[in-house]
Amino acid sequence: MANDQEAFGSLKQQLAKLFEESLRVTIPEELDADTAIAACQNPRFGDYQCNNAMGLWSKVKGKSTQFRGPQPIGQAIIKNLPPSEMVESCSIAGPGFVNVVLSRQWIAKSIQKMLVDGIETWAPKLPVKRAVVDFSSPNIAKEMHVGHLRSTIIGDTLARMLEYSNVEVLRRNHVGDWGTQFGMLIEYLFEKFPSGEVSDQAVGDLEAFYKASKQRFDSDPDFKGRAQRAVVSLQAGVEKYRKAWAQICEISRRGYEKVYQRLGVHLEEKGESFYNPYIPGALELLSKQGLIEESEGARVIFIEGKNIPLIVIKKDGGYNYASTDLAALWYRLNEEKAEWIIYVTDVGQREHFEMFFTAAKRAGWLPAEDNKYPKASHVGFGLVLGEDGKRFRTRSTETVKLVDLLDEAKNKCKAALVERGKDKEWTEEELEKTAEAVGYGAIKYADLKNNRTTNYTFSFDQMLNDKGNTAVYLLYAHARICSIIRKSGKDIEELKKTGTIDLAHPDERVLGLHLLQFAEIVEEACTNLLPNVLCEYLYNLSEDFTRFYTNCQVVGSAEETSRLLLCEATAVVMRKCFHLLGITPVYKI
Ligand code: ARG
Repeated sequence: MANDQEAFGSLKQQLAKLFEESLRVTIPEELDADTAIAACQNPRFGDYQCNNAMGLWSKVKGKSTQFRGPQPIGQAIIKNLPPSEMVESCSIAGPGFVNVVLSRQWIAKSIQKMLVDGIETWAPKLPVKRAVVDFSSPNIAKEMHVGHLRSTIIGDTLARMLEYSNVEVLRRNHVGDWGTQFGMLIEYLFEKFPSGEVSDQAVGDLEAFYKASKQRFDSDPDFKGRAQRAVVSLQAGVEKYRKAWAQICEISRRGYEKVYQRLGVHLEEKGESFYNPYIPGALELLSKQGLIEESEGARVIFIEGKNIPLIVIKKDGGYNYASTDLAALWYRLNEEKAEWIIYVTDVGQREHFEMFFTAAKRAGWLPAEDNKYPKASHVGFGLVLGEDGKRFRTRSTETVKLVDLLDEAKNKCKAALVERGKDKEWTEEELEKTAEAVGYGAIKYADLKNNRTTNYTFSFDQMLNDKGNTAVYLLYAHARICSIIRKSGKDIEELKKTGTIDLAHPDERVLGLHLLQFAEIVEEACTNLLPNVLCEYLYNLSEDFTRFYTNCQVVGSAEETSRLLLCEATAVVMRKCFHLLGITPVYKI
């Protein structure tokens, strides 16, 4: 059983399982200690280490007659390890670290098995079955800015990684489609189109429409009064108002759908309006528990350690962002039965999330401990900066037209390909597809490779550079591997069935081990909600491949079959990384 890859998930999880069995025998009285397995920092000591001996010693010290220190515990852990193909050898270092050298044959065999059974068999196991990822979430009629682009890119990657890990993901677009601004927009719409016939062109730029209506609202008290009454009519469900509201939402939706389509991002819209009917019930529950209090005419929840309370009903009796989020959380937990609810927004909203998560914990909707499920997590990200170090804006207007931005990336890539004469070699369609893959991939990767909490500088020059840690470089590296395989003239599908991998050369072994660590990297990236962990893995993988390819002859060598299979495995894992990052791979350059 211990050798069965599919049963245990990642390499690290499999090792942990093995050591868990040993620990159970070694110190049966301390069963709840988590198995502490980590990759070795220094490969001289081994591939992995088990760090339990020291912690166990501090627990049994004075009580145990069997052990006289952490080192003997480490030795016993090694002795009690069930036999496994995985492990080549173990040794003790320092105060009781157990270092593990993995078996080269086992690494090779695991890779071969993946080539036959598919990379899906390397999916890590996560402790949840269903998750909500709340991402993108622009506000109707207001600009969809680069912040929403970041949320879209990061959220999509997180969703993809969870989906790969066999978690059912509800991809939620929590659009801002409710609130008092709609009274003003609707009234303005009635004014402009008295007949009720609204066309997209006529409304044109929704943002300009928003601004114009706001100006009317601020300058004309009569209009303002009508707008305020319009909100009441809308919320009361008056047909004419609902219809106007739906029209405005639809025009806005068509705008951001274009961005999603370009980026290949799938989302399901459940906007703020959807949760509106659930607000009274959710607040009622909180109220019954005595969480909601009166403060300066508003209904609020006081949160320990925060100066300002969370307002859930405004002075005028209306609901707000927080009441909507509380109702949405209730819905996601109780109706959708999600065990993990992930919100992707800029770090500026951290306080809001912290506060309503705390309220939900006090209400018992979420467990107080952060390592228990159901769980709510806020995935905050930093600003997008221009090369001048200021908030990013495009040249043409004060707002960033996201579609234009994506077009520009694609056009620049196309120009670079034409410059290299690809327009003569390839069909127009190939040229287009490659330019799109590289251009959009570059924007996504430039965003994802940074730790999301830091600000990042948007620079076409940097992201489209074919050297360094960019999507362009990585996509080319992948295409190069594909071309090595193609040029060998061998049928790789046939080799997968009949050939074997041998990792005799040290650079082959390093590459092989790196490949096998894919699952635990995805696991880590999911657990900590950090896509940059996967980017770093991918970049290092291409570096390990380069070292291997520089030092080991592939085509025409005695080890050709084994090495071609290693090339193929690298390409397969790279492609899966691209897929998880939402990047379309290219096969030739
Ligand atoms: N519409 C919000 C904004 O543009 C983001 C919504 C995030 N999701 C949530 N459940 N609050 O800032």
